Amino acid sequence: MRIFLPNSAHLANLEAFLRKCRFDKPTELHVRLHPRWVSVHPVAVALTAAAAAQVRQLGGVVTVGRASSKNHSLRYLAAMQLFKALGCEPPEKVRSHEPAGRFIPITQIRTSAELSNFIVEMVPLLHATKTEVQPIQYVISELVRNVIEHANSTTGAMICAQYYKARRRLALGVADMGVGIRESLSTNYTTSDDLSALKLALQPGVTGTTSGIYGSANNAGAGLFFTKGIACASDNLFTIYSGSGFFKLRRTPLAKRAKGIVIHADPDNDYHTEIADLPAWQGTVVGVDVSIDKGRTFAQFLHAIRTVFGIHRQAAPDPGFKAPRFA
Ligand SMILES: Nc1ncnc2c1ncn2[C@@H]1O[C@H](COP(=O)(O)OP(=O)(O)OP(=O)(O)O)[C@@H](O)[C@H]1O
Ligand SMILES: [Mg+2]
Repeated sequence: MRIFLPNSAHLANLEAFLRKCRFDKPTELHVRLHPRWVSVHPVAVALTAAAAAQVRQLGGVVTVGRASSKNHSLRYLAAMQLFKALGCEPPEKVRSHEPAGRFIPITQIRTSAELSNFIVEMVPLLHATKTEVQPIQYVISELVRNVIEHANSTTGAMICAQYYKARRRLALGVADMGVGIRESLSTNYTTSDDLSALKLALQPGVTGTTSGIYGSANNAGAGLFFTKGIACASDNLFTIYSGSGFFKLRRTPLAKRAKGIVIHADPDNDYHTEIADLPAWQGTVVGVDVSIDKGRTFAQFLHAIRTVFGIHRQAAPDPGFKAPRFA
């Protein structure tokens, strides 16, 4: 496997980064860094950490390319614990320091107990109130639970995140090297390729665990749909990548936003980018941005979405809340 961490790989242009990756040779991973500046969304870091965990578990070799001392990102990557995850020394001696930004360094989660602990322990890391972190806890819990319940991966979920204080936004990445979405859905659904499987999994009520719409009490087929909906309602991006398939929720154009944001049950109706032929990733990778000043909105959002899709009922909505529309 070969991964190049460039000077720009964010959700808006993630596909360019993915297209340059090579995921052949599962017992070798070579990571190269942009010589001067690495600026990547945490999803790229999580993907790299997941690949490294898999290679190391197979007894393979992980190497990191040489980087010049002029690379200003080494300290950030070290603080993210990338080199630790790779099992390699940083290319240059990196001074340890207290990072100025707030972030969740690479964390491996394999069990529900680890997830529960993590969800509680992450709150102080973000220096935000309990209500503010609610949507973040929700999204992390849905995405990691998916890995634990569906991915069948011995290395579990790799997660990492960065908090942008000025924008009050958390950029989050969750990656696994498990069976992937298409394989996991295949018990109940026949799909023609990875992209079709991804789009099916994003629909409310579609679950690989139980046949029939709205699944069971444990798996209602809600996690991915809600996560995409949370990103959509707060005008953020969401990407999901599995096998060769890639789907990205884009922002609602300004002109349309004035009429209110619509959350679609069918991802084909979302403003989106889809690609069917990226280098095949054995597993699933989700990148999403979540705004954290939406505490009240979030509760109302969940209420609205649950009511529309009949998933669960809660107290009446706050009259001051402008509900998203559903289609
Ligand atoms: N990380 C993953 N690895 C493999 N398959 C996945 C992964 N995430 C999701 N899936 C597949 O996509 C389907 C839909 O996921 P989603 O989270 O929307 O629903 P669910 O997990 O089945 O139910 P719920 O989230 O309501 O408990 C899953 O049932 C599973 O088949
Ligand atoms: Mg789920």
